[in-house]
Formats: sequence, C-alpha cells, structure tokens
Amino acid sequence: MISSGRYDVGLAASLASGEAMASNAGGEVVAVFNVDGSFYAISDTCSHAEASLSEGDVDGFCVMCPLHGSEFDVRTGEAMNMPATSPVESFHIENEDGNLIVTIP
Ligand code: FES
Repeated sequence: MISSGRYDVGLAASLASGEAMASNAGGEVVAVFNVDGSFYAISDTCSHAEASLSEGDVDGFCVMCPLHGSEFDVRTGEAMNMPATSPVESFHIENEDGNLIVTIP
C-alpha cells in the first residue's frame, strides 16, 4: 500500500552526479537521480515490465531501462522510445538541508 506524504529518501551527498538510487517513499519505490546537482524522482518500475530504472544507464536527463532499452526522461517520466509506450510517474523532490525529500501525492 502506498501512503501519500513527504518522505526522506536519502542524503544528497550520497548520490553523485550522473548516478541513480532506489529508495522507498511511503511504499512507492522511487528512482532518484542527480543530474549536475539537480535531483529528480520517478517511479522505479519501468512501465513496460518489471525492471528497476535506477539500475539503468543515465545519460543527461535520460535513463535507459536495463531490460529492453526504453529511455525515460527523469524530469517528467516520459517514455521516449519503444518498447515502453506509457510514462512512469514523476514526483516532486526537494533538497532540504542535504536531505532529499520526495512528495507522494
Ligand atoms: Fe523496461 Fe521493457 S522492462 S523497456
């Protein structure tokens, strides 16, 4: 079950630029990305099948699903190519005094 709220998903300092990590936010597993010091959060599970997007290669604002290669925009969750045709959810994330806070609506 997923609960709405604001969740601390980790330390900003622990996520280097160009890296991703998975974290639990109220029952929702989110993939958190650092792109040049800005942080983004999307649902970790690919919209095509069961794969963890935080385990994909990150190139700028794109993450490539490790299973079949669809790319998603980490800013919006938009699926940019096949085989995924649906976006993944994107979440508001803030850096509050070094703590990354994700809002689950
Ligand atoms: Fe991600 Fe297929 S599981 S593209």
